[in-house]
Formats: sequence, C-alpha cells, structure tokens
Amino acid sequence: MIATKSKMFKMTGRLGIITATLFCAGSAFGQDPAKKDSVSTIPAEVMTVIKPSCMPCHSNEGRDKPKAKVNFSVWEQYNPMEKTMLAASILDEVKKGSMPPKGFLKSHPEVALSETQIAQIAQWCESLKAKP
Ligand code: HEC
Repeated sequence: MIATKSKMFKMTGRLGIITATLFCAGSAFGQDPAKKDSVSTIPAEVMTVIKPSCMPCHSNEGRDKPKAKVNFSVWEQYNPMEKTMLAASILDEVKKGSMPPKGFLKSHPEVALSETQIAQIAQWCESLKAKP
C-alpha cells in the first residue's frame, strides 16, 4: 500500500513537471506580436514592403549568401547591436537602390521599391539606429 502510494506520488510529480513544461511552451507561443515594440519586431507596414521585395532572398526560404547577410525571418533573434548595424546596412543598400538587386528586378519588376516604400524602410532603420 505504501509502495503504491509513493508510486502514485512519483507519477503525479512527473505529470506536474510535464504540465508545467507544456504551459511554459504554450505561453511562449501565445505571445502577442502586436504587443512588442518596433525595435524587436518589424512593424507591419515595413513587413508589407520587405516581404515581397526582400524576403524571397533574405529569409529562411532564401539562399545562403543573402540569408547570412540579413535574415528577416529571424529578425527578433538579432541582438540590439546587430539590429543597429543591420539597420545602417539596410538603409545604405535601399537608399543607393542596390536592393533588391537589379537582376532580380528584371524578372520581378513588380517588387521594385517606390519612393514611399524607400522612405518607410528608411524611417524604420533610422528609428533602430537611434535606439541601440
Ligand atoms: C534576389 C535576391 C535578393 C533580394 C530580393 C534582396 N537581396 Fe539583399 N542581398 C542579396 C545578396 C545575394 C546579397 C549579398 C551581396 C554580396 O555579398 O555581394 C545581399 C546583401 C544585402 C545586404 C548586405 C549588404 C552588405 O554589403 O553587407 C543588405 C543589407 C540587403 N541585402 C538588404 C536587402 C533589402 C533591404 C532588400 C529588399 C528591399 C533586399 N536586400 C533584397 C540578394 C537579395
């Protein structure tokens, strides 16, 4: 009887740990991205621009070389210093008109950045540079 009781206790103890683990994982998944500030998360209006124009290459779906330079799929995982440096680099590329690359625009002219879109990205980058 005592043995059964301690076995029962072990089982409930283990269950408790499993439940706690699941709970933690669940709350991490359940985070509301809208609640995050524009530093850690890419703002929705910037994402609308970046998704078709940059993410075919600079995302988990992209090729190794552009992905290694900047991967917008994992933006939140860059540390503040990396974000600041990337912001400067993105700003530079976009202002020079070097990104998206000319070759890509030949086959995908619809993803060329408009003046407004360049301004949107620039504004976001400036805000990141201001908050290291
Ligand atoms: C067709 C694929 C493609 C698209 C689309 C594209 N890039 Fe790139 N990007 C590249 C490649 C390839 C490199 C690496 C170039 C090199 O190393 O010479 C690069 C490099 C970069 C770099 C690093 C530059 C450096 O010299 O360190 C930045 C920043 C960048 N891209 C931003 C962007 C942004 C912002 C967009 C969207 C507006 C974009 N890219 C769209 C392919 C792409």
